[in-house]
Amino acid sequence: MTSPTPPAGPALRFRHHGHRDAALIRDLLLDIHDEVYEGSDDPLAGREAFAGFVDHWSAHAGFACVTAHDGDQPVGYAYGAPLGPGTRWWAKVTPALSDDFTAESGARTFALSELMVRAPWRGTGAAVRVHDTLLAGRREQRVTLLVHQAHVRVHDLYQIWGYVAVGGVVPFEGAPDLLAMVRTLQAPGGQGSAGTSSA
Ligand SMILES: CC(C)(COP(=O)(O)OP(=O)(O)OC[C@H]1O[C@@H](n2cnc3c(N)ncnc32)[C@H](O)[C@@H]1OP(=O)(O)O)[C@@H](O)C(=O)NCCC(=O)NCCS
Repeated sequence: MTSPTPPAGPALRFRHHGHRDAALIRDLLLDIHDEVYEGSDDPLAGREAFAGFVDHWSAHAGFACVTAHDGDQPVGYAYGAPLGPGTRWWAKVTPALSDDFTAESGARTFALSELMVRAPWRGTGAAVRVHDTLLAGRREQRVTLLVHQAHVRVHDLYQIWGYVAVGGVVPFEGAPDLLAMVRTLQAPGGQGSAGTSSA
């Protein structure tokens, strides 16, 4: 009899949350955020500012979040929502993207708004597992995220995860310089296509 292969990394427990769970998980999301961004000089990293983003995203009917725990310890989370037809997500990306690329139906693109993992679980594979758990089985064709232009090691990480950069963006006044990235999502049955080559 062969021994089972032990799981890679810590034994994490994942939970899926939707729009209706927003109030239940709000403090958890804010508390992890505060710890992860403690000491940050980013004016948008304060608890109050971040709470506004959490409330904005979790108010979306398509809000989807995965939280991870290691025993009784919260580890991190990821959340986002599909882009609707009226989205401004792509509007300020430079160089400008084609209309074909930016057309949204509510079913084409999942926007990954946040991903964060507490320091003790960094470099353990927890982050990619949270990411993959959130996206597993989603029916959109592609996933997009925005990452700080200055955080080049994070770009590298996302490239390893399959993302490609499609342009720079400052999505609103006072926002930092960000990089928009996109990755194909394989729809169930393997029919996914991100259209990342038509930018
Ligand atoms: C991004 C994150 C989930 C990745 O976790 P991970 O897969 O375990 O990878 P690591 O934490 O080892 O990070 C990979 C590299 O990016 C760097 N990095 C991670 N977050 C960073 C940040 N906010 N700013 C600058 N660099 C960062 C790490 O220092 C590391 O660099 P190295 O390879 O030179 O050591 C995790 O680092 C995190 O929670 N970071 C803080 C929140 C964040 O930046 N989220 C991404 C928003 S787009």
